Amino acid sequence: LDTLKLFHFIENEESEKRARDWNEFLLNHHFDFSGILKIDMTKGEAQIFDHQKNKFSIDFIGNKLNYAKKKGSLKTELIARALGSGRMGMTVLDLSAGLGIDALFLAQLGFNVTSIERNPLIYLALRDASENLPSDTKIEFIFNDALAYLKNSSDPVDVIYFDPMFPEKPKSALPRQEMVFFKGLVGSDNDAIEVLQLAQSHLSAERVAVKRPLKAPILGGKPIAQIKGKLIRFDIYGVKNERH
Ligand SMILES: C[S@@+](CC[C@H](N)C(=O)[O-])C[C@H]1O[C@@H](n2cnc3c(N)ncnc32)[C@H](O)[C@@H]1O
Repeated sequence: LDTLKLFHFIENEESEKRARDWNEFLLNHHFDFSGILKIDMTKGEAQIFDHQKNKFSIDFIGNKLNYAKKKGSLKTELIARALGSGRMGMTVLDLSAGLGIDALFLAQLGFNVTSIERNPLIYLALRDASENLPSDTKIEFIFNDALAYLKNSSDPVDVIYFDPMFPEKPKSALPRQEMVFFKGLVGSDNDAIEVLQLAQSHLSAERVAVKRPLKAPILGGKPIAQIKGKLIRFDIYGVKNERH
């Protein structure tokens, strides 16, 4: 299969180069193209379609539904409270970038965010989208597996955030098309328990916060605290390292 044929681009050097770069990156990382109908690069952010014509794209600026800056503060937002509201420091390692919704929100709240994504297609979409963010946005997306990153990186962080994919209940309302596509791409994150365990032995972090659906069972051992919202909750775990 000539996977470059799946890319639609305008007849200019820059657009064609971008398509070739994406294609090469995806091939190098053994991306499975079988679910992809086309990747349209003719309109700014890449728009990716599956065979059911579900669309997936990441547009931090234009997609106000996902990324509009909210008014909340470090003290009021649940996710910020789950990460210590800054008391433990502002450097956060996000082990599950996904659509980058939480990562960007954390950056907007003032955190300095490093966000890891292992799916090569999602990573490319995040990376390109982040090029359009204001230059003072403290966010960096890294293509890696969280387990490998935790084992190999010695960059100090204050807190760790983890939001693995949770298997959907069969009867739940049909999610928006991008979520359908996104779930199809990512599948379920079966190594989540292992990631949490490794995160808990991080050399510098103070705590790990794990996002779960409100009624979902806990992921690993017993959390030291929970912060509950209407639909989701954050389970907080301590970290065993020299800070303690
Ligand atoms: C539920 S989504 C995260 C959504 C994200 N919090 C947001 O706000 O958009 C989970 C994402 O984390 C990624 N992921 C899960 N486990 C990972 C791991 N061990 N290493 C790297 N990425 C991982 C998946 O590929 C998926 O894109």
